[in-house]
Amino acid sequence: MTNKIYRVAIVGLGRMGSTIDDERPAGFPAVSIAAACAASPRLEVVAGADIDPDKRAAFQARWGVTALYGDYLEMIRQEQPDLVAICTRGVLHAEMIVAVAEANVPMIFCEKAIACSMEEADAALAAVGSRNIPFNTGVLRRFGRSYHVARRMIADGEIGEPRAGVHYAGSNLLHGHIHSLDTLSFLLGDPPVVSVLGELLPRDLVIENNRLDKDPNAIYQVLFANGVEATTAPGGTWEFEVIGSLGSIRVCNNGDSLHLRKAKSEKERIFLDAPAPAVEAHSTTQSCLEDILDAHETGRPTLGNIQITHHLTEACLAVAESHRQQKRITLPLENRSLYIFHV
Ligand SMILES: NC(=O)c1ccc[n+]([C@@H]2O[C@H](COP(=O)([O-])OP(=O)(O)OC[C@H]3O[C@@H](n4cnc5c(N)ncnc54)[C@H](O)[C@@H]3O)[C@@H](O)[C@H]2O)c1
Repeated sequence: MTNKIYRVAIVGLGRMGSTIDDERPAGFPAVSIAAACAASPRLEVVAGADIDPDKRAAFQARWGVTALYGDYLEMIRQEQPDLVAICTRGVLHAEMIVAVAEANVPMIFCEKAIACSMEEADAALAAVGSRNIPFNTGVLRRFGRSYHVARRMIADGEIGEPRAGVHYAGSNLLHGHIHSLDTLSFLLGDPPVVSVLGELLPRDLVIENNRLDKDPNAIYQVLFANGVEATTAPGGTWEFEVIGSLGSIRVCNNGDSLHLRKAKSEKERIFLDAPAPAVEAHSTTQSCLEDILDAHETGRPTLGNIQITHHLTEACLAVAESHRQQKRITLPLENRSLYIFHV
């Protein structure tokens, strides 16, 4: 790690770019990109772009940033930032990722999900992957300490051989399940997704012209290459559980704590509560951005790099394709133009 302070430019000065922390209780770790940069000794916001002049004015008043633009590409040309954070809504993500990569920005953060179709995701993969640009998205649990502790315990064999993963909470597909699929994948060590069985809700929803203009609620079962079957239970608060041959670990209450259970013995498979480490709250947005810096400085891949993000976007869209075809879909997804709008 160097002492360099990296210059950040934000595209989209709305909630995730600037103001979402107002929706959290006082003292909650930084969520917005601007707040996470303010919390990090390694990051400084030097510019912002938004098509809405009121958002630009509010951003200047709040963060004291004066280099503000209506055109984000003009901002990049003028300010030459080290890192661009794309915080616009979903329909713009892929085209902005491509344009920012082609503008030779050294590091990119983009809000999730990166694309509405695999055609869009393929373009983002080509633009970022071919330039080897350190890249992460806003699937923030991947950067949360409780999830890191759980992943380490699973990898170390604390629950035996992982057999199944469960996500809890009802959710829409590209806005919400891009998170749930990403977190299940992360907890299991990011094995490739082999196949997906999914249903959109309501079950009689028809996908006309290979396109949905509203992000649908969804449920799924996913088979990972390590043999783990993962599913989503559409109820409760956001939690994740991985069940192994000799125990289970659950990340409770959206990352607040861990619940570990271990088999009494190899022969007597009664699962008993076991002590799990307490995990301190921290800014997952800050960790996500600093992971990009560490990758830039060391040459290692980012935790949520474009290849992983592209693959999990494919798994997410395969849920809708499974609903459309009424059958299990094996990746890669053939239907690259299936389009699902999301915010
Ligand atoms: N990771 C998370 O936990 C999390 C939380 C909230 C939102 N999000 C994601 O963040 C993204 C943004 O959501 P939001 O709630 O902040 O939206 P928002 O509407 O509050 O902000 C988006 C901003 O983008 C601006 N914009 C639109 N077109 C633009 C353009 N061409 N150039 C520059 N600016 C433009 C809009 O004027 C608006 O100010 C979404 O993809 C959402 O899914 C993620």
